[in-house]
Amino acid sequence: MSNAVFEPASLAGIKLKNRIIRSATHEGMADEKGFPTEKLKKLYIRLAKGGAGAIITGYAAVQANGKSSLFAMTMIDNDDSIPEYREITNAVHEYDTPIIMQIAHCGRQTRSETTGLQPVAPSAIRDMFYNEEIPKELSEDEINGIIDNFVAAIVRVKQAGFDGVQLNLAHGHLLAGFLSSHANRRKDRWGGSTGNKYRIIGEIFKRAKKRVGDYPVLVKLNAHDGRKNGMKTEEAIRIAEMLEKSGCAAIEVSCGVVEDGLYTARGKKLPADAALEYTFKYKNLPGFIKTISKPVLRAFMKQPKPLLKFNLDSAVLIKKAVNIPVIVVGGINNIDDINFIIGNQNIDFVSMCRPFIIEPNIVSKFHKGIQTKSKCIMCNYCVIIGEEKPLRCYYGKLP
Ligand SMILES: Cc1cc2nc3c(=O)[nH]c(=O)nc-3n(C[C@H](O)[C@H](O)[C@H](O)COP(=O)(O)O)c2cc1C
Repeated sequence: MSNAVFEPASLAGIKLKNRIIRSATHEGMADEKGFPTEKLKKLYIRLAKGGAGAIITGYAAVQANGKSSLFAMTMIDNDDSIPEYREITNAVHEYDTPIIMQIAHCGRQTRSETTGLQPVAPSAIRDMFYNEEIPKELSEDEINGIIDNFVAAIVRVKQAGFDGVQLNLAHGHLLAGFLSSHANRRKDRWGGSTGNKYRIIGEIFKRAKKRVGDYPVLVKLNAHDGRKNGMKTEEAIRIAEMLEKSGCAAIEVSCGVVEDGLYTARGKKLPADAALEYTFKYKNLPGFIKTISKPVLRAFMKQPKPLLKFNLDSAVLIKKAVNIPVIVVGGINNIDDINFIIGNQNIDFVSMCRPFIIEPNIVSKFHKGIQTKSKCIMCNYCVIIGEEKPLRCYYGKLP
């Protein structure tokens, strides 16, 4: 067994106590302005005390039309939020734990009912989940404005004392949408070839470098999704090489878009009862329709396989193509697998999301040998009910 997992490690100059990272997890704990609350600070303190090697925050939106339709997303679109975030970074640093902010624009995966604005996307293609409205195709000026807003957000993240920033290029949000030929059908310099689709991200790196120098900018990248013309691993490898050239500090490898269903965060069975009660799509349906829909949803929405270590193969391929650190997320729930990934697969760090929801001190339990496996049952109620309530573990029971 390798014990490198629990030795200090460096990620683009960020010092970690171990190689197990809390992956970005939407917490739904912002106030009405999108500023972090005391509840969010307490959660990060629990994670830091519980031994996480580093914490990646839930996604924070860089501008108003990129805000998620999930409950109470944090915003990083305003200088007034900097002192509020500074309180969070100071508190977490007391426990010698680095904290990285994930920033995002949700693109067409949001609703005007939440943002008050029409969703935007590389192309006017309807999303199969958020299908009540067609997104507006972004103009050249709007794309430039989004690049500037990502850069302004990176500057704020640095000023607030975060140890680094992570761009969300995953799960179908705006930047992932640009990379996907399914969502991006543009014929101009922002679409078509991989280089054109990558241009918006390359520009963010270029303009950020001028403002923040060598400040660590990481990414979370989809290696594939379930769409016919969506992301494929071969293209993700080329994008990883471009990211390295752009000065990216590390790549966290993920998969899936919202319209794929639960492909990013997998489970044995579809949480149909939670979906029918808590998602905007189904919650207002008459009771008898919900009753008959439950078995139908479960029968038709097959859950993707495998359930465990489901991004490891693509992370290994990406790691072979780049010299920067690679982090793998997805279905990692026990210390034997973590030792194997770090010790035998040449992957630099592992990250977990759901195991930290049920046990914020999971790393300390692994380290002390109290427990070898997460208690998470992968029911995915946390992600579904996150549309209406702050983050917590439901352990397969409706609230
Ligand atoms: C409740 C919940 C919230 C999530 N929020 C985010 C997020 O804000 N940003 C992100 O990149 N991924 C997010 N994800 C995806 C996770 O970070 C992770 O990629 C996925 O759950 C697979 O890892 P796991 O098997 O360790 O849970 C979220 C997942 C869940 C279950």
